[in-house]
Amino acid sequence: MVVAMRAETLLAEAAAALLAAGISNCRQEAGWLLAHVLGEQELTAQPCSGGAPLAPALVVRFNALLARRLGGEPLQYILGDVDFHCVNLLVGPGVLIPRPETEQLVDFALELYPGTGEICDLCTGSGAIALALAASLPGAAVTGVDLSPEALTWARRNGERLALPNVRFFLGDLFAPLPAAARFVMITANPPYVSADEYERLEPVVKDYEPQLALLAPERGLAMIKRIAKESCRWLTPGGWLLCEIGEEQGGEVGGILRACGYAKVAIRQDYAGKDRVAVAQWPGGADD
Ligand SMILES: C[S@@+](CC[C@H](N)C(=O)[O-])C[C@H]1O[C@@H](n2cnc3c(N)ncnc32)[C@H](O)[C@@H]1O
Repeated sequence: MVVAMRAETLLAEAAAALLAAGISNCRQEAGWLLAHVLGEQELTAQPCSGGAPLAPALVVRFNALLARRLGGEPLQYILGDVDFHCVNLLVGPGVLIPRPETEQLVDFALELYPGTGEICDLCTGSGAIALALAASLPGAAVTGVDLSPEALTWARRNGERLALPNVRFFLGDLFAPLPAAARFVMITANPPYVSADEYERLEPVVKDYEPQLALLAPERGLAMIKRIAKESCRWLTPGGWLLCEIGEEQGGEVGGILRACGYAKVAIRQDYAGKDRVAVAQWPGGADD
């Protein structure tokens, strides 16, 4: 039988169990799980006063979520959402959990956006980049594309939940589903770029839960980046920008690929941790050339 428990006791026991399972930020994670359970309780209007013991039903619910986390499932799948840049996104099985370093790509895109014109976000996943840009630039039409039907379901759900009128999503392989006449002043992408070797070494919390299609790419992780560099040329307006997330050791090669495709102003920018993370390049022919 589950009895009522004080929150402090529950949190301390949960943190100890998480630590024993190798989860280092155990206190924070225990706190987030409890906040999630208490948030659900608010929605179902069952009162819970500050220092009073938690009702047995809450303890049962908390323990069920804790068991999933102890079983190795990503915290964000359990909580069901994640903050990304300026938006909150629903996530779950079938879609990559947006990473904090990808927020840097959004900041670079906002810095380079020329003030008018359409944006395309390839490999959109949950819609993270597309939706953050659409929210930040209400005057810009943003198109997101993904090959995975599961991922696109999350993207569309997020688009509807955020009620952004300036974003639309297409299912398909890179540019294949787009109208032939479409042209973009900016193309963003966080494609799969993990090599086969790196994929084998990924933490189980990533490898066992997040989709392989979102992570793994042939040719030492470069195959999709090469395709994006090559195919974007025909979809960018003169002077349009390509911003592509890359692996921290891919900067040199990706810079060479972009220059070989004919891009100008090729630069590899770093994330908040100082690691190479975003390749930026301009398609020639703009007014400032
Ligand atoms: C690294 S995830 C990025 C997701 C999201 N943009 C983000 O930053 O969180 C890569 C995404 O690319 C998608 N993808 C893989 N191959 C693709 C292709 N050929 N065309 C379009 N999307 C593709 C995967 O389904 C996955 O959602």
